[in-house]
Amino acid sequence: MEITAIDHVQLAMPPGEERKAAKFYQGLLGLREVAKPPNLVSRGGCWFGTGAVKVHLGVEPGFRPAKKAHVALLVQGLAELYGKLAQAGVAVRRDEPLEGYDRFYADDVFGNRLEFLEKVEASPPPPVSVRAAGPPDRAWMADLLRQSWGSTQVVSRGRAHDASQLPGLVAEASGGRVGLATYCVQGDQCELVSLDALVPRRGVGAALLSAAKEVAFMEGCRRLWLITTNDNLDALRFYQRRGLRLVAVHRGAVDRAREMKPQIPELGLFGIGVHDELELEVALP
Ligand SMILES: CC(C)(COP(=O)(O)OP(=O)(O)OC[C@H]1O[C@@H](n2cnc3c(N)ncnc32)[C@H](O)[C@@H]1OP(=O)(O)O)[C@@H](O)C(=O)NCCC(=O)NCCS
Repeated sequence: MEITAIDHVQLAMPPGEERKAAKFYQGLLGLREVAKPPNLVSRGGCWFGTGAVKVHLGVEPGFRPAKKAHVALLVQGLAELYGKLAQAGVAVRRDEPLEGYDRFYADDVFGNRLEFLEKVEASPPPPVSVRAAGPPDRAWMADLLRQSWGSTQVVSRGRAHDASQLPGLVAEASGGRVGLATYCVQGDQCELVSLDALVPRRGVGAALLSAAKEVAFMEGCRRLWLITTNDNLDALRFYQRRGLRLVAVHRGAVDRAREMKPQIPELGLFGIGVHDELELEVALP
């Protein structure tokens, strides 16, 4: 005898909340709702699944969420899921590192703890190169900006840029595009208007930032600056570790920018309310 695999997992939910469950498991996690066998329908609850992943939500009178015991789901695109859940206001949280994996915890809509993991490649990541964006990149740039920022418009310091039309830097690895930076030079100042790494934690952001500094320097700029929002703690760490300094907090600037760009969410990463613009800069030698 040998147990070979897990067929499904069951989590508990309160009675009468099937639509809420579908909104979370189907709407946010992307698992498809599967019809329950007719003889089990009367018990309530609902089933979700994609491929080998089967998650059953069973109704438990007197329901109490599982705060510690949890299911761990393997994910491709962990960073994307993290952003999606955070943006939807789900409390997401990282924990101690686990060798070989990136991971985080989140609670489902009923408060049941879930873990999401992605395997990290053991082999060194392919080298990242950066080149100037050209006309064939424009459609891709526009798509990426829409996906990442809700539209191609980026508002900073009360000014709206159509970032898809700005000069851009494209990061590539293994022949594919893996990141984009856009910038705007005005006099001796260069604003880094957007920075997106499609593959997180593989050096893409660092390569783009250093290329942006080089371009700004070659254009005669004395300062490279950028705006990030008060919820973007990852970006704050990322930029400060690379020598940028916080020079201003523009209180309420995002609330004002939202009037120009309604796609800016009210709740941002980690479920933090998005209100303020943080300005960072680095002097160019
Ligand atoms: C902020 C952002 C651009 C960073 O890009 P990134 O490609 O993940 O950045 P890097 O890989 O260069 O560095 C990120 C971390 O991964 C680490 N890292 C890089 N390569 C790694 C590897 N092979 N293995 C493990 N860790 C690695 C770096 O040391 C760095 O950690 P640190 O910041 O604590 O020093 C990216 O998270 C992103 O696109 N975020 C969404 C958009 C956004 O917020 N943009 C900025 C707003 S202004």
